[in-house]
Amino acid sequence: MSHVCVPGGAGYVGAVLVPKLLARGHRVTVLDNYQFGREVFDNIRGAAGLREVEGDVRDRDAVARALEGCDAVIHLACVSNDPSYELDPELSKSINFDCFPMFLAESKRAGVKRFIYASSSSVYGVSEVPDVREDHPLLALTDYSKYKALCEPLVLAEQSADFTAMVLRPATVCGASPRMRFDLSVNIMTNLAIVNKKITVFGGKQHRPNMHIEDVTDLYEQLLLEPAARIAGKIYNAGFQNRTIADIAQIAHDVVCQELPELGPIEIVTTSSDDNRSYRVNSDKIAAELGYRPRHTIEDAVRDICAWHRAGRFPRSLDDPRYFNVRTLKEAALA
Ligand SMILES: NC(=O)c1ccc[n+]([C@@H]2O[C@H](COP(=O)([O-])OP(=O)(O)OC[C@H]3O[C@@H](n4cnc5c(N)ncnc54)[C@H](O)[C@@H]3O)[C@@H](O)[C@H]2O)c1
Repeated sequence: MSHVCVPGGAGYVGAVLVPKLLARGHRVTVLDNYQFGREVFDNIRGAAGLREVEGDVRDRDAVARALEGCDAVIHLACVSNDPSYELDPELSKSINFDCFPMFLAESKRAGVKRFIYASSSSVYGVSEVPDVREDHPLLALTDYSKYKALCEPLVLAEQSADFTAMVLRPATVCGASPRMRFDLSVNIMTNLAIVNKKITVFGGKQHRPNMHIEDVTDLYEQLLLEPAARIAGKIYNAGFQNRTIADIAQIAHDVVCQELPELGPIEIVTTSSDDNRSYRVNSDKIAAELGYRPRHTIEDAVRDICAWHRAGRFPRSLDDPRYFNVRTLKEAALA
């Protein structure tokens, strides 16, 4: 079992990953500035094996404190979508890229043996290639994606016999999390179906790659356990269903109607769009080399969100800024 440092561990993915790692016997240190609230760990705060360091990934002292005694890192911290990044590009770059060499150096100094970097399948940009594999050119369209791509070689350059470095490029994640994001495609449409009883689709023919939050977090744990030689210096895509936006809207519609029949009819309104650009990721490499088998579908993600809604776990889900990264950051900037 590992002692894992998870920078960004209080975010959407981390809020599912951290309790999972603890439940499977790992020790976890979260380094986060808790931009989206500290309540995310209310249920596990004080649990044996969990250490929280409230701090900034740009602060060398906080980073060194967080890495103390850790043998692995799963690096999730960043300004994590395009609109949030663009609110303040200089600040975002300082978080997503400028401090990254320092983080790597501190990791090595602390004796970390394994470093897993959460990149993104958005590094490819849009592509009409039906199977975007790891050797597809990186044509990032935004600074968020560009700096994700530029961190990758920095990680891989550190690969050595006693420092296993690898990069994961996950598809867009979907499903319920204690730190919920309703600014990701499946989650957005499900939320609109439940709250507005109306899903608006622009165009709809664009393909998007998706991955369930339980699958991506299972995979991060698998990457901790894999023999070093199998993952050393590797880059892997990770996704599951590549579906059109229209398909995703239909799935959200059908599953919400089934799970929450008391809502009555739900409408899908399709408007035309001249932006029909697609991207799809192919995950054959990680399936062949590591036996990766996603087990959860988009339907499961919608079903889970319905159950959490029904249980009252997403109050004011269209209005509360904390569910939307860009709105939270805007509010913080104004505060
Ligand atoms: N969610 C997705 O669909 C998806 C898809 C592909 C890749 N990823 C990558 O996975 C990672 C996690 O994504 P997420 O959806 O959980 O994002 P998120 O925005 O919910 O979480 C990011 C976390 O980083 C923290 N953070 C931001 N700036 C910080 C700073 N300066 N110092 C310390 N902590 C800071 C935030 O407080 C937050 O808890 C990101 O690197 C993202 O790029 C996410």
